[in-house]
Amino acid sequence: MGVTSVVEQLKAELGSPGLVLSEADEVAAYTSDWTRKFSGVAPAVLRPRDTDEVRRCVLACRKLGLALVPQGGNTGLVGGSVPRAGEVVLSLSRLNKIENFDAASATVQVQAGVVLQALHEDLAGRGCVFPVDLGARGSCQIGGMIATNAGGIKVLRYGHMREQVLSLEVVLADGTVMSNLHGLKKNNTGLDLKHVFIGSEGMLGIITRAVLQARPAPEAVQTALLALDTRDRLPELLTMLRERLRGLSSLEIITQDSIALYKEVEPGTREPFDKAYPACVIVEEETGAGENERDGFLERLSGVIESGLAADAVVAESEAQAQAIWRLRDGVTEAISRAGLTHKFDVTVPPGALPGFLTQMERFGDEAGGLRTLLFGHLGDGNVHVNMMQKPELPEDEFLAKGPALAERIYSLVAELKGSISAEHGIGIAKRAYLHHSRTAEEISLMRGMKRLLDPDNILNPGVLFESA
Ligand code: FAD
Ligand code: MLT
Ligand code: ZN
Repeated sequence: MGVTSVVEQLKAELGSPGLVLSEADEVAAYTSDWTRKFSGVAPAVLRPRDTDEVRRCVLACRKLGLALVPQGGNTGLVGGSVPRAGEVVLSLSRLNKIENFDAASATVQVQAGVVLQALHEDLAGRGCVFPVDLGARGSCQIGGMIATNAGGIKVLRYGHMREQVLSLEVVLADGTVMSNLHGLKKNNTGLDLKHVFIGSEGMLGIITRAVLQARPAPEAVQTALLALDTRDRLPELLTMLRERLRGLSSLEIITQDSIALYKEVEPGTREPFDKAYPACVIVEEETGAGENERDGFLERLSGVIESGLAADAVVAESEAQAQAIWRLRDGVTEAISRAGLTHKFDVTVPPGALPGFLTQMERFGDEAGGLRTLLFGHLGDGNVHVNMMQKPELPEDEFLAKGPALAERIYSLVAELKGSISAEHGIGIAKRAYLHHSRTAEEISLMRGMKRLLDPDNILNPGVLFESA
């Protein structure tokens, strides 16, 4: 069946204007991922405006024997949000309404295409926060964040997306709309089906709405940047900060070479301290609003300096200074993406293993040759982002060819350390070959059974998690 006939048939089935995009330049905007490592062809992009149009799109694709890739903000980092072999892209971007805020339960009902930043801004006006935050906030959408069970910089205190979702509306592969939206804290009535779809990466159903738990905005947030003259005492630092900062909400690490790269890409950036240290750590604590709260924060941090766990510290005296500290962290991921192609490994290791693991990653990168190893991530969660970036002198094909062996080496070590091969980004296409390092054969078999039950014709995001049905 030629592309034209597929597009014509989709238009005939779906009719409404703006729903079916098929011009090559329009479609191209949806077929490459953020890392520039995954791209494919799609006969068309479907842009439904509401749940019923999503349902109609699914039925039309089924009728025409077309698979589809649900897409939110397309900021996913494992290749799951773009077509591989001729799937139709179904964009949720037009389902972008924040539908209802319930002050008494502090819950908010949103459509899947609401961008995270928009939700943050809406809730700020209500004295609340949505406690999941990440560098892609300007583009990632609530549906995509639920589908990948996104983590980010506040997991330490509030958990992942999973912990914020109270109920979902999902369109299943047969067009069934499963919708039981509520903001109940307690609803123990049989299997909690939302958890099947949270983290399912678009391969079990299309999330169209969610009811989320908002939280009261903290009265004040204290932010500091610590300079470490060694990474060897990270476990002690973690222990002390947890003990001393009861309102600890973020703990991020940026190693020296990641800061160096950020400065290369953003030349105006100053070294945060009077010299380059092996690593810097962002510490954030939610406190009361009294004027002595900052002094209390300084006092609690002083122990970290006195114990030698940190060599220096900068404590933000204003929101602007706090934002400048965060720009260092948020900017690293963007900078790496601008500086070159990268093999990304998003892993969790037990906190005690962190110092040795970081050194091992640098050794693996050196031994692979032609790579620049950049380490940063969510220290408080034991989540290290290992980015191995192509050096200019390494040809792209040789760079790409290094990926599988590197992945096998890194994930085998992570498995030995009883860590996880994917802390927060999911599996997608990028990591499906390594799933056995973190999941048992029995678990994988059960996941396959759930896929067969919910999507027997394998039309939802085929190839994600499993290479073949
Ligand atoms: P997409 O990329 O569009 O899709 C992601 C997956 O979800 C795909 O498999 C897609 O098919 C599926 N999907 C999308 N929408 C739906 C839907 N409505 N129903 C069903 N399936 C759907 N991630 C973190 O966890 N923590 C971080 O700290 C973090 N920081 C980042 C920083 C930057 C600069 C960037 C670019 C990315 C970062 N990410 C991070 C990765 C990414 O932002 C998250 O995975 C995010 O949840 C993806 O949301 P999205 O709307 O862009 O989804
Ligand atoms: C981050 O925390 O910046 C992200 O998860 C993205 C990355 O790993 O690059
Ligand atoms: Zn992250």
